[in-house]
Amino acid sequence: MKLNTIKLTNFRNYEHLELKFNNHLNIIYGNNGEGKTNLVEAIYALSITKSFRTNNDKMLIRNGELSTKIEGEIEEKTKNNYQVILNKEGKKVKINNNIISKVSDYITNINVILLEPDEQIIFNSSPQVRRKLINIEISKIEKEYIIYLNNYNKILKQRNFYLRDLYINGNASKEYLDILTKKLVEYGFKIFELRDKFIKNINEFIVNEYQSICHNGKLNIIYNSDYKNKSIDDIIKLYDKNYNRELTLGKTLYGIHHDDVTFTLDDKDISEWGSNGQKKNAIFAFKLAEIKLISKEKNTLPILILDDLFSALDNEKVKNIINLLNTDMQTFITTTELDRLDKNLLLKASIFKVENNEIREEY
Ligand SMILES: Nc1ncnc2c1ncn2[C@@H]1O[C@H](COP(=O)(O)OP(=O)(O)O)[C@@H](O)[C@H]1O
Ligand SMILES: [Mg+2]
Repeated sequence: MKLNTIKLTNFRNYEHLELKFNNHLNIIYGNNGEGKTNLVEAIYALSITKSFRTNNDKMLIRNGELSTKIEGEIEEKTKNNYQVILNKEGKKVKINNNIISKVSDYITNINVILLEPDEQIIFNSSPQVRRKLINIEISKIEKEYIIYLNNYNKILKQRNFYLRDLYINGNASKEYLDILTKKLVEYGFKIFELRDKFIKNINEFIVNEYQSICHNGKLNIIYNSDYKNKSIDDIIKLYDKNYNRELTLGKTLYGIHHDDVTFTLDDKDISEWGSNGQKKNAIFAFKLAEIKLISKEKNTLPILILDDLFSALDNEKVKNIINLLNTDMQTFITTTELDRLDKNLLLKASIFKVENNEIREEY
């Protein structure tokens, strides 16, 4: 899968920007604060319809403007035009100029894998941050996943609301709560199964990927869930048993909204035992495993983005990945230090300089 062109209108610091990309390697360089990450953020948002840096879509709109548009041509077997349009009212996505009403029909089409500097902080963040990472990755592969997740969250909200209502106005019916519980568990189970499958699939690749970067250590991901080794009936029973506790606390105590993942290196939790370098490499191995998984599941290579390469990885790892990079995979690298990149690599790449809110290709 290749991104042939991108066209930005009022995106972050870019008023108008149109670029043609190289099928293999694109290197974007410039000083800090010039807008390198903004460009790869646009590529990411073209694929996921969201930023990786902010949950507030409006931040993507150029200061003082009312809307932004990201447009790109993706080539796989055929060429297709994709558009993400954001304004104060919300978001619209289009494929070949047709509005796509369900986001889930849009985001499985363009597969982008992004590595950003300091992504290893997920190991010391709340489970919610790690769930978000997993959610985004699964929704690239499984079309139904986002729909299940949205339904689950809606029912969870209703159920929590109803629990509080039951507690305050004791006369409300437990039967209705049971209906909500059953629906919640049904969607929860589907989500559990997809998460479980995803982690198993990633684990098939991640061991080798980690070894290829670090040469020793066994990396693994453990999926922690209340649903583990349980049937739908077991989970409903769990809810029944804890009915009084849930009632007094006014919230749903069990379910996939508490799921988490633990990365282990030689069977030790990396968030507690790992060095900063090992954490960075673990994240990188995770991304490489995803590339393998996507190529297997979708029969296409995703687009790889390495933002701020020399901050995301140390020098030696940079050397390794240059060898690892499949030359057939379209890759975007941003850096402040062009001269730290291998000469032979530069010869093969398209090089873009970012300066004064513009990007110019250098020949
Ligand atoms: N919505 C926006 N409108 C205009 N400029 C923006 C907007 N958001 C960020 N910027 C500008 O983008 C710049 C940061 O760009 P960034 O891509 O993070 O730089 P870097 O090259 O270091 O990766 C800052 O100068 C900031 O002022
Ligand atoms: Mg940056």
